[in-house]
Amino acid sequence: MVQRNKNFAKLQAGYLFPEINRRKNEFMANNPQADIISLGIGNTTEPLQPSVVKALKDAADSMATVEGYTGYGDEQGMTALREKIAEKMYSGGLVDADEVFVSDGAKCDTGRLQMLFGEDVTIAVQDPSYPVYVDSSVIMGQTGEYNKHNDQFDNIVYMKCTAENGFFPTLEKADIIYFCSPNNPTGAVATKEQLTQLVNFAKQNGSIIIFDAAYAEFISDPDLPKSIYEIEGAKEVAIEVCSFSKPFGYTGVRLGWTIVPKALKFDDGSSVHGDWNRIMTTIFNGASNIIQTATINVLNDQGMAEMRELVDYYMENARIIKSALDEYGFTTYGGKNAPYIWVKIESMDSWQAFSYILDNAHIVTTPGAGFGPAGEGYVRFSAFGHRDNVIEATKRMAKLKI
Ligand code: MLT
Repeated sequence: MVQRNKNFAKLQAGYLFPEINRRKNEFMANNPQADIISLGIGNTTEPLQPSVVKALKDAADSMATVEGYTGYGDEQGMTALREKIAEKMYSGGLVDADEVFVSDGAKCDTGRLQMLFGEDVTIAVQDPSYPVYVDSSVIMGQTGEYNKHNDQFDNIVYMKCTAENGFFPTLEKADIIYFCSPNNPTGAVATKEQLTQLVNFAKQNGSIIIFDAAYAEFISDPDLPKSIYEIEGAKEVAIEVCSFSKPFGYTGVRLGWTIVPKALKFDDGSSVHGDWNRIMTTIFNGASNIIQTATINVLNDQGMAEMRELVDYYMENARIIKSALDEYGFTTYGGKNAPYIWVKIESMDSWQAFSYILDNAHIVTTPGAGFGPAGEGYVRFSAFGHRDNVIEATKRMAKLKI
């Protein structure tokens, strides 16, 4: 018999979002008449924009011809797409096209990045944080056991992000520092000064930052940085993971990218870019060519304007949710430059609040504790719903007593 990978036994429950789905399905089985509104997982709901649909159809038509058909492509992504990402998603030559690695999404790259560092590194995460950082680290074998008394894994540094510290943590030493801004789940966005502090800290301590910028396009405040590379010196210390999922509605289409700067080196002077290239060429065969071709043709003025419309739609949802919850007396955070609203719950713990809201308002949220111990006492509302559902959800929330 084959021995089970011992790291799986360390994981606590199923992955957060399938677990929420399981609880939702259980509720629906017991309450078949209930009209559930899902504001849990950040899953897009609005249709693809016209430019995207046309470009996808054209790309598929092209594949139906001998001249237009393509099979395997470059594992790093189509050159034209890498160039377009560097030009359109980063202003002023912040990244070079050959530093862009196109992928099937930020979550997948976050998992693959574990392979780049192996099991011997220490990691630090913002607490609360997107659960993929911690769970993939456990699976890779970077952590010790889970401690029930503090809900933390040994050998992971949890950097608390609380209302008291403005959701920017006291930075702590680790080889790899995960940092997400705009933050999932708190909706906080780090300022230029804060990111400068982070970059300088990484430099002083020889750390590498994995900067998750999946929600960058939701920033409307021109003073807030969208990319870590807006900070001087960041290319020597940071990898940036990003995604078309949320701003372009590609959650099911699947396309993302990771920037690995050529200036980033390991302690022996070897190139991180080179090793990432080795991983991608070895275990990844490139994102779908239809999606890549289409996206090359979407990254123009018209396509970017349509993307902005979609982002504005979801951010109007965020405004509606936040202002309603504020009016009902909740303390809320985020929702201004991020599509998540982080809501303080005083009267019960976050899984109880999740159940209470599901039972009494038939709304699915995400319990804060699912993002780490410092998420306890909060629930997260996603702004990625249809407008009618969002408005209906705010009406139902008015009647709750929590
Ligand atoms: C979330 O809801 O936290 C994320 O959007 C899910 C994901 O992107 O994997």
